[in-house]
Amino acid sequence: MSKVIGTAVNRKDGYAKVTGTATYSAEHDVPGLVHGVVVTSTISKGRIKAIDTREAEKAPGVTAVFTHKNAPKVFKPSNNFMTSKIYEARLPLSDDQIHYAGQIIGLVVADTFERARHAAHLVKVEYDAQKPTIEAKNAVFKEAPPQMGEEFKFVKGDVAAGMAGAATKMEATYTTSTELHAPMEPHAIIAHWQGTDALTVYEPSQFVALSQRTYAELFGLPSEKVRIIIPYLGGAFGSKAFPWPHGILAAAAARQIKRPLKVVLSRRQVTANAGHRSETEQTVRLAAAADGMLSAIAHEVKSSTSPVEVFTEPCTSVTPAMYTAPNLLLNQELAVMNIGTPTFMRAPGEAPGMWALESAMDELAWALKLDPIELRLKNEAKEHQRKGLPFSAKHFADCLKVGAERFGWKDRPQPRSLTRDGKLIGWGMAAATFPGFRGKTSAKVRLLPDGSVHVLTSGNDMGTGSYTVVAITAAETLGVPVEKVRVEMGDSQLPDGGLAGGSQMTASLVPTVMKACQDILKTANCTTGTEACAALQKSGRAAIEASASSAPGDETKKWAFQSWGAHFCEVSVDEAIGRLRVTRWVSVMDVGRIINTKAAASQVRGGVIMGIGQALMEECHFDPNTGYPVVYDLATYHFPAHADTPRIDVAFVGEPDLNFNPAGVRGVGEIGITGVSAAIANAVYHATGKRLRSLPLTPDKLIA
Ligand code: MOS
Repeated sequence: MSKVIGTAVNRKDGYAKVTGTATYSAEHDVPGLVHGVVVTSTISKGRIKAIDTREAEKAPGVTAVFTHKNAPKVFKPSNNFMTSKIYEARLPLSDDQIHYAGQIIGLVVADTFERARHAAHLVKVEYDAQKPTIEAKNAVFKEAPPQMGEEFKFVKGDVAAGMAGAATKMEATYTTSTELHAPMEPHAIIAHWQGTDALTVYEPSQFVALSQRTYAELFGLPSEKVRIIIPYLGGAFGSKAFPWPHGILAAAAARQIKRPLKVVLSRRQVTANAGHRSETEQTVRLAAAADGMLSAIAHEVKSSTSPVEVFTEPCTSVTPAMYTAPNLLLNQELAVMNIGTPTFMRAPGEAPGMWALESAMDELAWALKLDPIELRLKNEAKEHQRKGLPFSAKHFADCLKVGAERFGWKDRPQPRSLTRDGKLIGWGMAAATFPGFRGKTSAKVRLLPDGSVHVLTSGNDMGTGSYTVVAITAAETLGVPVEKVRVEMGDSQLPDGGLAGGSQMTASLVPTVMKACQDILKTANCTTGTEACAALQKSGRAAIEASASSAPGDETKKWAFQSWGAHFCEVSVDEAIGRLRVTRWVSVMDVGRIINTKAAASQVRGGVIMGIGQALMEECHFDPNTGYPVVYDLATYHFPAHADTPRIDVAFVGEPDLNFNPAGVRGVGEIGITGVSAAIANAVYHATGKRLRSLPLTPDKLIA
């Protein structure tokens, strides 16, 4: 039946992007614009004793300087995930306290960016500095508080008892480094007030409707008085879901100075005050009988947050979904450190969590002398152990089977036995997983007499392919060519299209767009859009229009929805110089129905590449004295280039998950990164016989 869904369709936004006509937030042309540059703290803990802005105020072109002494007024928003959400609970410039280096302590506004930047350097600050906590080894870890309504601690059975009698057990501690989202587009905002009671915001946001409600609350306005316009995002990966302090400050300052104001963060500022993924330390204990059946799993995690927000990297979320054991223990601890606020980053929790769990499973497999695929098949969970619900449409075993065949896994020789060109060669594998999330969305679809279709929704495309997914859905449902579908997204005046995050945009929006298109056919009393169009022409009406919404329902009480996958890789290790290269890759994914085979495979590849970065090179460090990030831009923060990336073979298995939504789609944005770093470390073990448990796997660790 399906004609467009499940085929390879080029991006609707591809032409605009490669020709430079796609307009990003900071590029909008707003007449009368002035420029703001934020002033940031050079200490990481203490208070501002004195701040002298006189010289900055006198500098050429400067129109205003804001500090905590004359902070523009904003209201505290309700700050929860339903109504409004900001990244840092502390509002910008709310007092003289310093919590991390790079914290925003002022804003200088001038007629040009260069003049604002110059004047920002003229602000003189005296601090009362205190000794900061920068390193985890000096931090105080406490039980992590519940996050998004869920306790971290989970106990089933008795892990000590499950470990005691076991034939084989392992315990190991795995670490990950601080990672940066490093999107191509830096954080930026243009805030444009119409009077003092209507605001237009051009700022990258993964959740247009929530951003609208948040800015409305910050300024005590009804939502309809705030308009968010964001047709294109240059990457987000979780770092652009909610307003950061610079955005709030820019909007507040613009209201006061009565001019449209643009603030673009430098890369250094993005690193210091617009989020990162916290470093983690994870201890995993596994116990199994001689046949490989797990008797106990314990996963205990430490991560850190900033003094101004509570965010726990939720590493243990994957564990109760992956493998079953009668005895299971999960716990997370959190420390407050004087570094900027960590936040969601592609597969938050799942990516580092699978690093630890899938490394541990590999260690156990070698200890048991069992193939790692067999160990996983024996222990795969049939139900989600926290939710107590069976998985819907689970095809993890097929991922393993198909992946092993495509890779040629069955001929894997003993560790440290493969060589090529004087280098050690190793093969590794790991599982991948990510929950199936879905949110409430709305959309409007319009059929025009010329046979073209407009789809309108505020849900947006952060570079993932949502424009195209929406167009494919409308084309399929109405039976029109995909070229005839025009999609408008990323404007809060359009129906609330939900969140571009948690890999849920496709699963949330496709059922809604389908429903609206079906309503059009019903209204026209036709079976295809072409017939409906003919009827429309005859009637002389301007358009047939339908609005629809869809949301998750009772199915979430019956099923656990989760996507599955398997990665297989080959690495080469040059032990003399500690060079690790990833030379071959196969990923097989079970993510429900695929809407656009080209974009879906690209999403998986993007995830794998980001995982190669996590495994090989991505790490941000903070100066232990000043707390300032010493890795802070796209030159000092290394991530994979094409030369670091092999051909990535992607295949999909499984079936539409029709329990989840009428389209059967689960989304594919994040699963690709999960398990990647473990697969690589497992391959390094196979190549060298060395078990590396600390990411990234840099040359020093490979030589040691
Ligand atoms: Mo993603 S970390 O849910 O944007």
